[in-house]
Amino acid sequence: MHRIAVFASGTGSNFEAIATACQRGEIDAQVVLMVCDKPQAEVVAKAERLGIESFVFSPKDYASKADFETEIVSLLDKAQVELICLAGYMRIVGDTLLSAYEGRIINIHPSLLPAFAGARAVEQALEYGVKVFGITIHWVDHTLDGGKIIAQRAFEYYGDSAEEIHRIGQQIEHKMYVETIKKILK
Ligand code: GRF
Repeated sequence: MHRIAVFASGTGSNFEAIATACQRGEIDAQVVLMVCDKPQAEVVAKAERLGIESFVFSPKDYASKADFETEIVSLLDKAQVELICLAGYMRIVGDTLLSAYEGRIINIHPSLLPAFAGARAVEQALEYGVKVFGITIHWVDHTLDGGKIIAQRAFEYYGDSAEEIHRIGQQIEHKMYVETIKKILK
């Protein structure tokens, strides 16, 4: 059984999809740690409900990113984590975490990269006026959403509601993240 960690900052619907797929035995892995940088985030209660250990911190309690990432790395090491899945973790991974786990960190992004990297990807795409939207899962490296692409899914949308695009995109994400993790762990 593989050991994975999920990092999130918000609702945690991808975290939940991954964790429950593991608990159902659909992925041959266990989510051994959930890392969250926002103590008020909904994902924190989700982890508790699912009985998954979490490390919840406030970056302002640390002198630097290197400081909190050092603590995270020691927890990941202790938990013998093999794969880190970023799922709405709203922070750029720093050198400390990257040098310890590069090649073992993946991220899910709500656009067809390399288009619309960074924050507000769906809104950027909508403002641009594209009609094909999508989701990308990629390896995390030093660039912003620029690591090697693992998987992509596209869908057409002709309306003007960012909310609706998020909703369609998230349904795709939940399945796609589980399928991609399965493939990577194989
Ligand atoms: C997802 O839509 C993902 O594409 C982006 O952040 C969002 C996280 O949503 N990186 P959730 O917290 O998993 O519901």
